[in-house]
Amino acid sequence: MSNRLKAMPNDLSAFWMPFTANRQFKQAPRMLVASKDMHYTTSDGRKVMDGTAGLWCVNAGHCRPKITEAIREQAGELDYAPAFQMGHPIVFELANRLVDIAPAGMDHVFFTNSGSESVETALKIALAYHRARGEGSRTRLIGRERGYHGVNFGGISVGGIVSNRKMFGTLLGGVDHLPHTHLPAKNAFTKGEPEYGAELADELERIVTLHDASTIAAVIVEPVAGSTGVLIPPKGYLKKLRDICTKHGILLIFDEVITGFGRLGTPFAADYFGVVPDLITTAKGITNGVVPMGAVFAKKEIHDAFMNGPEHMIELFHGYTYSGNPIACAAALGTLDTYKEEGLLTRGAELAPHWEEALHSLKGEPHVIDIRNIGLVGAIELEPIAGQPTKRAFSAFIKAFERGALIRTTGDIIALSPPLIITKGQIDELIDHVREVLRMID
Ligand SMILES: Cc1ncc(COP(=O)(O)O)c(C=O)c1O
Repeated sequence: MSNRLKAMPNDLSAFWMPFTANRQFKQAPRMLVASKDMHYTTSDGRKVMDGTAGLWCVNAGHCRPKITEAIREQAGELDYAPAFQMGHPIVFELANRLVDIAPAGMDHVFFTNSGSESVETALKIALAYHRARGEGSRTRLIGRERGYHGVNFGGISVGGIVSNRKMFGTLLGGVDHLPHTHLPAKNAFTKGEPEYGAELADELERIVTLHDASTIAAVIVEPVAGSTGVLIPPKGYLKKLRDICTKHGILLIFDEVITGFGRLGTPFAADYFGVVPDLITTAKGITNGVVPMGAVFAKKEIHDAFMNGPEHMIELFHGYTYSGNPIACAAALGTLDTYKEEGLLTRGAELAPHWEEALHSLKGEPHVIDIRNIGLVGAIELEPIAGQPTKRAFSAFIKAFERGALIRTTGDIIALSPPLIITKGQIDELIDHVREVLRMID
């Protein structure tokens, strides 16, 4: 490792860290200086098991040779090509490879640089699609309480996490929200999809009755809500949403930024639930988290609705300087090769029974009020300390890091989503870390 990478900076003040308790961090920094496969190395030389695939993105594990090599090679060959009115071969190759693994009918790919940009892109495509077909009155967007769709204005407007919304003004107009599907009184400690709550999808009928279908462009949901604490859809819920959207001519967008690329043991959550939306947003696992990239998948009908008018005219006035950046494309191709060679897009299904059993063995440990799991995702919900929400889980996060495991917490929920290369032995090790930590914290 180079000295530059190892050296600890002596002033941490300039960097305003995202979604971080900056003052707490800078008093006791948690620095990662290297990574390999399932582990990080900290600046004080400790190995830490990655229980969260970075931020739900390093699905193939860290510093995988195919990906590293592809980036290295591409950087010396074609570093950048203009994204507008110009092309380069591997962006087309990547789009084809992505369509090959996407749910049937998802025939086109629009590249972005993050999950947030994928969400903005999908919302804009939905609005423009209706307008292109002469249904310009369809301008409303429907999200869901406790939904997370990134941090840009469209995403926080359709999103349903109060802290992400309340400081930022009035947001987009014409947005409504479905209720969330978290019903702990009925579904606590469910393994896999909960029994109760499919009827919550009928709330969409109420919203349609209130606003009239002719004003609604799209519904956006995460098939499994990740960032808000792993909320798994009740059995039949997503199918109901699909049916109601189809009945009223409303587009259904699945935000698969977390669930895409194997997290549930299928390539996409759409495959897992057998429900095909009209648009899918992705990012994170598309490049194994290594180079920023996102992609929106669109059905043929949506894409084709734009392909009219004079041929020299731009069909969709949208895009980013780095859409389909060559180095990101190379990283994505190296990632897809790695997923394919190691069967990682379906490995979660093989590990899921062991994962489920290990996770639910934490039932009865101190503070645990719910455990939920699907594919290779799990959540352990803790009883909050009275009057001090989030503090208990944050202590668990700090203690786990000190003991050698990276976990993620949101509110008082511990969320786990390890790289898909994890072994059964490492699953047991990770869960044992959590068990010890639960016994240590107040
Ligand atoms: C479902 C979902 N959508 C969008 C995003 C935003 O992605 P990014 O942080 O890459 O902008 C995330 C990030 O966690 C996410 O989980």
